Amino acid sequence: MDADVVAGPPGPPWSRTAARDDRGVVTVGGVAVDALAGAHGTPLLVVDGDDLRARCRAFVAAFGPDAVVYASKAWCTTAVLQVVAAEGLLVDVASGGELATALAAGVDPARLVLHGNAKSAAELDRALEVGVGRIVVDAVEELDLLDGLARARGVRAPVLLRITPGIDAHTHAYVRTGHDDAKFGFTLSLGLADAALARALDLDGLELRGVHAHVGSQVVDPDAFVANAEVLVDLLARWRAEHDLELDDLDLGGGMGVAYAAGDPEPDVAALGAAVRAAVADRAAAHGLPLPRVLVEPGRAIVGPSALTLYRTVAVKDLPGLSRWVAVDGGMGDNIRPALYGAAHAVTLAGRAPVGPAGPVMLVGKHCESGDVLATGAPLPGDVAAGDLVAVATTGAYTESMASNYNRLPRPAAVLVEDGTVRPILRRETEEDLLRRDVPLP
Ligand SMILES: Cc1ncc(COP(=O)(O)O)c(C=O)c1O
Repeated sequence: MDADVVAGPPGPPWSRTAARDDRGVVTVGGVAVDALAGAHGTPLLVVDGDDLRARCRAFVAAFGPDAVVYASKAWCTTAVLQVVAAEGLLVDVASGGELATALAAGVDPARLVLHGNAKSAAELDRALEVGVGRIVVDAVEELDLLDGLARARGVRAPVLLRITPGIDAHTHAYVRTGHDDAKFGFTLSLGLADAALARALDLDGLELRGVHAHVGSQVVDPDAFVANAEVLVDLLARWRAEHDLELDDLDLGGGMGVAYAAGDPEPDVAALGAAVRAAVADRAAAHGLPLPRVLVEPGRAIVGPSALTLYRTVAVKDLPGLSRWVAVDGGMGDNIRPALYGAAHAVTLAGRAPVGPAGPVMLVGKHCESGDVLATGAPLPGDVAAGDLVAVATTGAYTESMASNYNRLPRPAAVLVEDGTVRPILRRETEEDLLRRDVPLP
């Protein structure tokens, strides 16, 4: 087999147990993808359970027990939350729907962190009702609203203030959050964080627990996380001096990058944990501050590389002198990342041994949109034909959770594969599901 053609598992960016069997078929957790496609259809998200658990364990080993909060926005489905909670992670939810999913997964509410820059009264009140452990407040209006709701319930809301720390993490504009002119948080350099603290200290319904800042997503430079930690420790020290206030929680957000293609840099989680913890300890000691509790909120780095998406090819068009277009049975509805962020996912022929050298093709979806491109320059062999299986790597994060029904395509199914056992975790949407919300005119 040509080296280019077999680019693909094993090895990053493919998940830990991804391999090829002696027929050349990709396997995950010991199960061949042609069998998965036959039993569950395509497009199909295939989660490598070993990989998912190993990622959880690596973060817990690096940052300590009760320090790792899974950002469920990356992929919020009951079974994924069950796995990460069983591995000792806390869970971050950013809406009432994510909260409901975490509760359905049996996550202890005290181990939930509620986020959101525009939370509704209903979302906040539900969080208080079930006893969510931390609420990260993002606006002054929210402080007042939460205070009123907490006092009405006769409780004090456990609050972290979301700080905009003025750190540019050099990532895609759509996922940069730490720089000053941002949608999220109280901008430190403009005095908004101090104003929020002053307001919070006036409100009896709030119990201030700490501060939070998230610098962005798909960040590969560990210095961005260290810088964030230092800014926040300095802030805790200043607030202690100015207000005689001791805050425990230092939540550094998520954003740890992952490999999408072979050779992509991926932060070493153990080294990152050591660097961040050392920076916090040094800075706190320098200020004479008790060591705060460090929390991190990885989403993508937990679930992203653990899944691949399996598609079946439908049509191949060769345009002489131009491109080769290979169309599959899914697309931007199940993975918006290439269209939204220009994200480049690795691709491989998955259902058989390829014949001949790989050539770059345009891997496109079935939506009525020219921008419905899953991969540009995907290495598929010359004999790729309708009916072949194609796998796209690193699709566990921000794919299903961002999926749409554009063109009224049903969203895909997902299976969790571990040690040869296949468990469905998400059923394929049906046309009946798609019509369920329609209200026909009489
Ligand atoms: C507050 C917060 N925490 C955690 C995350 C998770 O980021 P990632 O999936 O890149 O780790 C995000 C992503 O938007 C976020 O906004």
